[in-house]
Parts: sequence; C-alpha cells; structure tokens
Amino acid sequence: MAKAATSKAPAKAAATAKPSKATGKGGGKAPRTHRIAVLPGDGIGEEVVREGLKVLDAVAEIDGFLVERKVYPYGADHYLATKEAMPAAALEEMGRMDAIFLGAIGDPRVETGFLERQIIWGVRQTFDLFVNLRPIRLYHEALCPLKDKKPADVDMVVVRENTEDAYAGLGGIHRKGTPHEVAIAEMIYTRQGVERVIRYAYEVCKKRNKKRRLTLVDKANAIRAQDIWTRTFAEVGKEYPEIEQDHAYIDAACMWMVKSPEWFDTLVTPNLFGDIITDIGAMIQGGLGIAASGNIHPGKISMFEPIHGSAPKYRGQNSANPIAAIEAARMMLEHLGEAKAARRIENAVRHVIETGRIRSLKAGAYKCDEVGDIVRDAVKAGAGA
Ligand SMILES: NC(=O)c1ccc[n+]([C@@H]2O[C@H](COP(=O)([O-])OP(=O)(O)OC[C@H]3O[C@@H](n4cnc5c(N)ncnc54)[C@H](O)[C@@H]3O)[C@@H](O)[C@H]2O)c1
Repeated sequence: MAKAATSKAPAKAAATAKPSKATGKGGGKAPRTHRIAVLPGDGIGEEVVREGLKVLDAVAEIDGFLVERKVYPYGADHYLATKEAMPAAALEEMGRMDAIFLGAIGDPRVETGFLERQIIWGVRQTFDLFVNLRPIRLYHEALCPLKDKKPADVDMVVVRENTEDAYAGLGGIHRKGTPHEVAIAEMIYTRQGVERVIRYAYEVCKKRNKKRRLTLVDKANAIRAQDIWTRTFAEVGKEYPEIEQDHAYIDAACMWMVKSPEWFDTLVTPNLFGDIITDIGAMIQGGLGIAASGNIHPGKISMFEPIHGSAPKYRGQNSANPIAAIEAARMMLEHLGEAKAARRIENAVRHVIETGRIRSLKAGAYKCDEVGDIVRDAVKAGAGA
C-alpha cells in the first residue's frame, strides 16, 4: 500500500542560495513544509515522476523548504491485483495535503478509459479542479515543427475548463450492439462553472506581461448552448477593460495555432476543445515530452501532471523524456507559493535546451534519468539565472 517518504531538504542551503526567512536559520522557526501526494500511475509515469521529484528535491534544498510526500500505488498493477481503482479513503487523505503530483494513468491490460475516469477524473471532480492550466512556451526554435517560428512566436497559455462539458458523463448507450443502437453524450455548461473559469482566465491574462489579449475559443455558431460562453465572456470582460476580448471558433483556432501562433496570448475554452487544442500546443512547443499542466482550484489542493499519457510501449525502458514532469513540478511549486524555486527550474530547463545540452525531447534520445540529472545539476549550478 501507500508508503510515506519525506524529502529532508536541509535548512543549510547550497552556496548559491540566500538564507530563507522561513527556514528560520538561527531563529529556530520550523522550515516551510509542503505535503505532496504522489501518484506515479502507469507506464512511464513512475520514471518521469522520479525525475520530477529529483529536481524538486534539489530546489527544496537550495531554498530551504521541506517536501513531505506520500506515494500512492493506484494504477493498473494495483487494480489488476486488488480490483481497487481509487478508494474514497485515499481521496479523503489526499484532500488534507497541499498538492498532488501525477505521472500518467492508462494501461492496455485494463478496459480503455476505465482507470483514467476513476483516477484522473475522480481527482478532478472530488476536488473540483475546475481550471486546467496549460502554458505553451517554445524554448528553442529547433524544437518547433513550424517553419520560421521562434520562441517569441510561441508563448501563450490555455485555460481549459476542467469539470464540465462532454466529460461530465451524462448520456449513455441504448440498445447497445443492436441495429437500433443509440449513443448520446451531453455537453453540460453551468453559469457558475463557465463564469469562474472565464474570470480565472482574465486574471491569468492580466498577470502576463504580454499582449493582454484573451481569446475565447468555442463553437457557438453550431453548438447553440455555447452561447452561455459568449455572453459570460463579454459580461465578465467588463471588469477587465485593459484586456482585449478576442474570439475564435475551434476550427479556426486550430488553424491559427499552426499558422500564426504569435497571435495568441491567453486562451479560454470549454473542456473538450481545450483537450484538443492543448495537444496542438504541445506539438508546437516541442512535443508531449515537454508539456505540463495544472489541474487547479485556486487556493485549494490542486494536481500537477505532464500532459502525456502512460506511453506503455516505453514502460521500464528509462527512455521517456521527463521534462514535462519536471515542468509539472515547477507549476506545482508556483501553486505552493515557491516562486523562487519555480523560477530556478524554469531557468535550468530553458538553459539546458537553449544551450543544446539537451538537443532532443524525443523518447530514447537520452536516458530518462540522465535528463533528470542534467536538469538537477543545472538547477544546482544556478544555470540560466
Ligand atoms: N493524464 C493522463 O494520465 C493521460 C493522458 C493521455 C493519455 N492517457 C492514457 O495513456 C495511455 C496511452 O495513451 P496514448 O498512447 O494515446 O498517449 P501517450 O501520451 O501515452 O503517448 C503518445 C506518444 O507520445 C510520445 N510520448 C508521450 N510521452 C512521452 C515522453 N515523456 N517522452 C517521449 N515521448 C513521449 C510517445 O511516442 C507515445 O507513443 C492510454 O491509456 C491513455 O488513456 C493518460
């Protein structure tokens, strides 16, 4: 079952770090402690999470805080051995922690989507993680499949609604397997659900030092219920006169993401379209090996993960790229208020990519643990600061 582990990052920080007040050096105060639930999950999840934690430990040591963690075994192996997917007691326990760090869920030995629904969707619903935050940043032009696009051209953030839409599970299949079979999936949008994520997106846009343009991505011309997004976007937008209100239908947005990504600053979109458009985002920033996300309820427990899945074919090969998991750890630190530590990771990742220390993010280009070591060492050296 779950085992507990604590990263005892010593209060005596590395030479590059300034003394942190919260560590109470000489003052006797207890160091800041963050309690993390770790869910490595399936496939490559375990390997990439290990590297994410390696880098997390390095910044914790430098900045003088503690990361107390508990590792949960849920995923395919556990399910096949016990028939237990995600027990309510574990969710309850996680609810008392500060954040959840997830690898990936999904395994071909289990019915498609079952564990993903039970575990990922279960956590999102239980903790009402209504924001899926996806920064899309290109660190080096060589990673971008688009012609002539440079890092300055690919720098946006997608705010995807994370609890409603077609994923709410309403609908089903009637007369399954017969010639008269009927399948229904319903898209659900509540005023409260739409308004809170749109407001969050305006706030994200306001804090970004960029164009201050918020693009609503929907399909309100064909899906009439999405008019609720159009109206709410305009109404909430009155509170943010400094932000340009922009709009694109999902089909056009996919086209523009590829043709002119430099247009976009912040995007807000329903769950289903967000799921799709963020994979385009991952590709133009370098691939699934680099893209991270936060499942967020502001001010409450939130979950951070690489956006890739469990890539079962790479399981146990030490060949997956852990940068996405390292980036997820960075986002988790931001959420936990460790902005300085998060910046250290951002600088180190940018540095090792910009300088060609890591030239490829493709699976197998490097060993998974080798990439973790390179980023950890760059963090320790204060690279890119
Ligand atoms: N949040 C999640 O846990 C999550 C997300 C997506 C898919 N899934 C699940 O994962 C399983 C596999 O799904 P899939 O094959 O569609 O998507 P996937 O993301 O696991 O893999 C797609 C391809 O992307 C590449 N890739 C992914 N991660 C990589 C990494 N870190 N480094 C290098 N290359 C990487 C590999 O070439 C892989 O074959 C399914 O069960 C699916 O439901 C889970």
